[in-house]
Amino acid sequence: MFNPFMLMPCLICLYGILSMIIPLKIPMWAKIILALLMMSGPSKMFLLRMTPSGFQIYELSRNMALFLSAMFSFMIAAAIMLLIKDVAFIIWKIFSRAKFPAHYASLTVLILAAMTTIYGVYQGTRVPDVNTHEVKIPGMGKDLDGMRVAMLVDIHVGSVNRREFVQNVVDRTNALSPDIILIPGDFVDGHVKDRRNDLEPLADLSAKYGVWAVTGNHEYYYDFQGWLKTIAEFGVKWLRNEHVIITSGDSSFVLAGVDDPTGGKHDTSRALENIPANVPVILMDHQPRFSRDNAGMGVALQVSGHTHGGQIPVVYELTRRFNAGFVRGWYDVGGMKLYVSPGTSQWDGFPMRVFDPSEITLFVLRSE
Ligand SMILES: [Fe+2]
Repeated sequence: MFNPFMLMPCLICLYGILSMIIPLKIPMWAKIILALLMMSGPSKMFLLRMTPSGFQIYELSRNMALFLSAMFSFMIAAAIMLLIKDVAFIIWKIFSRAKFPAHYASLTVLILAAMTTIYGVYQGTRVPDVNTHEVKIPGMGKDLDGMRVAMLVDIHVGSVNRREFVQNVVDRTNALSPDIILIPGDFVDGHVKDRRNDLEPLADLSAKYGVWAVTGNHEYYYDFQGWLKTIAEFGVKWLRNEHVIITSGDSSFVLAGVDDPTGGKHDTSRALENIPANVPVILMDHQPRFSRDNAGMGVALQVSGHTHGGQIPVVYELTRRFNAGFVRGWYDVGGMKLYVSPGTSQWDGFPMRVFDPSEITLFVLRSE
């Protein structure tokens, strides 16, 4: 089956070999080694296959998965820098008769791409810091003032981020003494039999008002029913186009959640059916692109993820275009507050972050 996930990386790899490795004035054996290393980047895409029944992935050791993912990240970083180099080459040719320093230009790209990859993969795979936000919610009662809401999203447990990573994230989250924990989607990449053990530390999450979740698009790629059941066994409660009412003393808010439309029915109206009047609504919606519709339904605060904050500067712009303009941080959407988390981790396929750290989010709710 034709799969653009495989073809595009091969073309980018070919571009890297032609534009970066061939012009280098180094021995042929060194060029061959560099070319083979470059080719290991797209090879990961042959291990990750899209089939009619979803993604299939061959199990890799963590080190091998990290190496291949890092090489894929290097290939992308190099390709972006090579585009800049080749535009510079064209301008040089137009305005100068001197010989273009192809060797030094290619060597510069090689070194910068390697340094960017080392930094970016370190940033992309480390346990995230906590970002704290005080949020005024209109209509929030005094007894809920100071409620601590922790949020994890896009955990993406896979070949690289495994049990130790999840345990560290869980420990760091519990240390915040959250009253309630939200997980709006994208828990895992892989099948239950391979990844259950890695995700199991989620069962240690602790909060007085519970741990609540909605599905993300990645939940539908592997054994959807199996993951619904397994994650529920860890004590995480799903909100699938439905809501609950969280009450403290005389104050309440509605916590609602919608399914991701990738494989489910995204139905905010249904999630908000029969909610009490004059009670503020907090909505979990994995993708931020529906927020304008949600704002029209009386939601006070929407929390989302999915975008990973763009991960690197050039991809930021692409991410913005594919997500209705929402990438990272706070937005005012028709009077509704929208917070888009950059994610607690990211997909194994591209584990690099530059100027876009992952985070554990802590909201401290304030009454107005
Ligand atoms: Fe997602």
